[in-house]
Amino acid sequence: MSRSIGLSPDLVSYVRSANRSEHQALARCRVETDAMGDVARMQISPEQGAFLQLCARLVSARLAVEIGVFTGYSALATLLAMRAIHGDDARLIGCDVSEDYTGRARTYWAEAGVSDQIDLCLGDARETLGRLVKAYAGKVDMIFIDADKTGYDAYYEAALKLVRPGGLILFDNVLWGGDVARPDRIATDADTAALAALAAKVRDDDRVDMAFTTIGDGILMAVRR
Ligand SMILES: C[S@@+](CC[C@H](N)C(=O)[O-])C[C@H]1O[C@@H](n2cnc3c(N)ncnc32)[C@H](O)[C@@H]1O
Repeated sequence: MSRSIGLSPDLVSYVRSANRSEHQALARCRVETDAMGDVARMQISPEQGAFLQLCARLVSARLAVEIGVFTGYSALATLLAMRAIHGDDARLIGCDVSEDYTGRARTYWAEAGVSDQIDLCLGDARETLGRLVKAYAGKVDMIFIDADKTGYDAYYEAALKLVRPGGLILFDNVLWGGDVARPDRIATDADTAALAALAAKVRDDDRVDMAFTTIGDGILMAVRR
């Protein structure tokens, strides 16, 4: 299934072949998540994984936070890139509410040999982030936000406290399948309204530099000033 808005299946295949191959644990995660059915749509695409990896390299990420782990693809992709730079010092803190999904994630992290570098915090990310801000304010290099859309504004405010100046915050699904450009959907759907409000807020926020990109289902990027 293509998760890239506006790209034909042929172009999606081309983009995949133009990127490097996934780590074998990422490939297994993708195949087994696809077999879970419709929920597999929640997983980022391989090209988004490659993009997150390059972002991690660009900010030389040693400590990262992810909100919305699911079956672990984006966390593992990010951690592998961080590990290539910082070795055993690389660390990712993942937040999710689902024991089932993250139980699957742990098997791929174990296969890749990085289980001890990913800390999983189970529970509502709003509460988890409150604890993380107390422990890691200003110390995080990169944060990927990919959980419930109505939580994005709260996650953004916590992320701004967590990241160091120059640290990177990324939000997935900011195109929301195209719904963010439909006033009727903004008026009637809470997720769409939250995403549109967040995009406007980040655009006008002088605490960050930002770019709204159309990779996958849209990735909004903000760098703390
Ligand atoms: C879109 S999926 C994440 C996909 C993942 N980043 C990947 O690439 O595979 C969203 C995840 O957010 C989790 N989630 C939803 N609401 C949450 C909340 N309030 N706090 C923490 N996690 C939440 C869900 O359990 C789900 O696993």
